[in-house]
This record gives sequence, structure tokens and C-alpha cells, in this order.
Amino acid sequence: MDIVTTTNPFKPGAGRVPPELAGRDAILTAVARTMAQIVADSEGDRPIVVSGLRGVGKTVLLNEIARQAKSSGRWSVVKIEATPGRGLQQTLVRDLHQVLRSSLSLGDRAREQLGRALRVFRSFQLTVDPRGTYGFGFEVDPEPGFADSGAMEQDLEDLLREIGLAYRNLDHALLIAVDELQDAPKSDLNALNVALHNLGQESQPLPILFVGTGLPSLPAILADATSYAERLFDYRRLDLLDDEETRAALTVPAQRAGVTWRRDALDRAVESIQGYPYFAQACGKHVWDSRTDPDTISLDDAENGVLRARDEVDQGLYRSRWDRATPKQRELLRAMADDDGNPSAIQDLVVRTGKTRTSDLSVSRNELIKNGHIYAPDRGFLAFTVPGMADFIHRAVSE
Ligand SMILES: Nc1ncnc2c1ncn2[C@@H]1O[C@H](COP(=O)(O)OP(=O)(O)OP(=O)(O)O)[C@@H](O)[C@H]1O
Ligand SMILES: [Mg+2]
Repeated sequence: MDIVTTTNPFKPGAGRVPPELAGRDAILTAVARTMAQIVADSEGDRPIVVSGLRGVGKTVLLNEIARQAKSSGRWSVVKIEATPGRGLQQTLVRDLHQVLRSSLSLGDRAREQLGRALRVFRSFQLTVDPRGTYGFGFEVDPEPGFADSGAMEQDLEDLLREIGLAYRNLDHALLIAVDELQDAPKSDLNALNVALHNLGQESQPLPILFVGTGLPSLPAILADATSYAERLFDYRRLDLLDDEETRAALTVPAQRAGVTWRRDALDRAVESIQGYPYFAQACGKHVWDSRTDPDTISLDDAENGVLRARDEVDQGLYRSRWDRATPKQRELLRAMADDDGNPSAIQDLVVRTGKTRTSDLSVSRNELIKNGHIYAPDRGFLAFTVPGMADFIHRAVSE
């Protein structure tokens, strides 16, 4: 057998830039248009929230939005990831500090324009971190009475207002991108909502754009933190890819390397990928490595590659979740799997598990929601956050 050594273009793994970002043109164009408008008018727009299942490409999309913003030269970008049990403030302070530091090099006017923003930043920073770890290389005194109340919603609003004003004068804009937003503490989400809400009510909102990404539970979590969150954000759902988009994810990178997918091979891969971007990369990678002819991917190659990809993803993505589940949680997950990846009515789950009341399932339900394995797409329904989990459970149970 020939050993084929062309570099494998496919990139399975969290946040890894895919060789072809398939099916995301519409949302990228919409966000790009919003950003262009913000810079042109020096006026902010509604904050955006993008939600989607695990591995559907939220991080990759957010990084691409951040990359486009940076490359325009008109945006400063703060990109952070929320983590459970850790306040957003600390991370925001660290990243805003960097952004302000590099803004100082925007030109001669920048230091003068940013003066007040730096002082308010200093107040905010000292409120969050009294040691004041981050400096600017020159003395910056805090601005008394601003961003120092200790109430995050007020302090964040003060801080963003000052930065926004300075950036407006510098013909610049600020993008705040937060990944895994559903993991931020509820009080921080509330503070964020209040600050964004107040800033958005000004007659000419400052040139700031907020983009948050997270699991499908995120809209409900934001609404739980602040009742008007439903109307505050421009909500977008990131879906699985359709067949044509999956084809593009597989064929475009191959074409670039002069490799052709046979039609039946491509059909076989697309059928097993079921629109799941993460699995598209895993299949792409293993099919690529399975091919015996350097220029062509045959049906045999596709079948071998899909099997290897399936094995790898079973071990890496699904099994770890399954193995960590308690027997009671597994009972619930197994009952959910009977709906083949569609949302399960809790009433049906009660019957399937031989229980009498919905409350008999609530402990497992809450635990599984808390650790992000499942979510409630509607009242009285549950669904998996990871595409393909139901299929895995069928395989695991029949072993
Ligand atoms: N539009 C796309 N086309 C092709 N591949 C993609 C696309 N979007 C993401 N991928 C690939 O899917 C995988 C998962 O992407 P990413 O980590 O961005 O997902 P995610 O939604 O952030 O997942 P999680 O919820 O676990 O954080 C990566 O390997 C990435 O290269
Ligand atoms: Mg992610």
C-alpha cells in the first residue's frame, strides 16, 4: 500500500479553525454588516447572542467574527470565555487592560482621548482587584465616583460608556465577545444585561458590539437572570449543516489539495455525518488518512475512515459523558435516547422509566442540566446538548 503524505487539512477539536467554514456565510455577512454600520455611524447596535449544540461551531464562528473585526483596523476586541464559579469581571479587567494598552498606540490623540477612560478603568479595576495588578507604564489615578460602586451593573456601564466615548472620538469601536456565556454566574449575567440595556437606551448608543455564544439553554438562562433579556438581544441559532454544506466542508479542502471525492464515497460520509460539524472534521481527517490513492477518495476509504472517526468520537466525546453519569442519570439518558435525538416529553420519560411522577426524575434532570449534558428546549421537554448522543447510547446499551 502506498503511503500518502499530503498534509491532512481536517481539524477535529474544540475551537480549531476548519479548512472550510461551511454554511456560516449568512450569519457572518449579517454580523459584518452590523459591524460596518456601527463604525460608519459611530453608533452601537443590539447585542447578539448565538446559541447552538456542542460542537456545532460556536467558538469557531466567534473567533472568525473577532478576526474580521481586528483585521478591519477599526475595532478593538475583547474575547473571553465564561467559566463556572468565576466572575466575569476579573477576566474582563485583564482583557480590557490589554485592549486599552494597545489603543494607546492608535495615534497621538489617543492618549489624550483615552485619559478619562483609563481613569475609570482604574476605578473599575481597583473595585474588582484592590491590588491593581495591571498598570499602563505611567501613573493613572482612579476617577472617584465612577465604576467604583461595587455594583457590577453600574460599574460596567460606567466603564463601557467611557471607553465607548473615547473610541467614538477616535473613530474606533469595541467588540466584546464572550464564549460559553451560559457558564457565567447568574449575578454577572444580570449585571451584563442591565449594563447593555442602559447603554442601548441612549439616543446615540456608543460604538460597542456585544456578541455572546453558548448552549441552546442560553436564551432561557439570560431570561432567568433578567426578565427583559428576551427583547434585549438579537438571538441567532447556529444549526447543524445541511447536506450541501456538509459536502462543501468535505470537498472544498480536498479540492484545494487536488484530491477528489468519488460520488458514492461523499454520499456515504455525508450520510453518517448528519450535519454535525465536529464529526465532519473527524470523518474528513480519518477518510483522508485511509485513502490508498493520493488523488481520489473511494467508497472503501470513506467506509474505513467513517468507522475510525466513529470510534474516536465515541471514545472521546460520548463515552466520557456516559461513564461519568450515575446509574440514575443513565436511566434518564437511556429513556431520552428512545426519541432518537428529538426532544423528549418528560411525561413520556416518566412512563419509560416506570416512575409515577415527574418529580421522580427531577434530581437526575437537574444534575444533567447543570453539567450541560441536556437542556430544556421547551417547558416539559428535554434534549441532548451533544448531537449524536442518542445514537451512541443505543450502541453502548446494545454492547
Ligand atoms: N461551519 C463549519 N464547517 C466545518 N467545520 C466546522 C464548522 N464549524 C465548526 N467546525 C468544526 O467543528 C468542531 C467544533 O467547533 P467548535 O469548537 O467551534 O464548536 P462549539 O460549538 O464551540 O463546541 P462547544 O459547544 O463544545 O464549545 C471543530 O473541529 C471545527 O473545526
Ligand atoms: Mg466552543
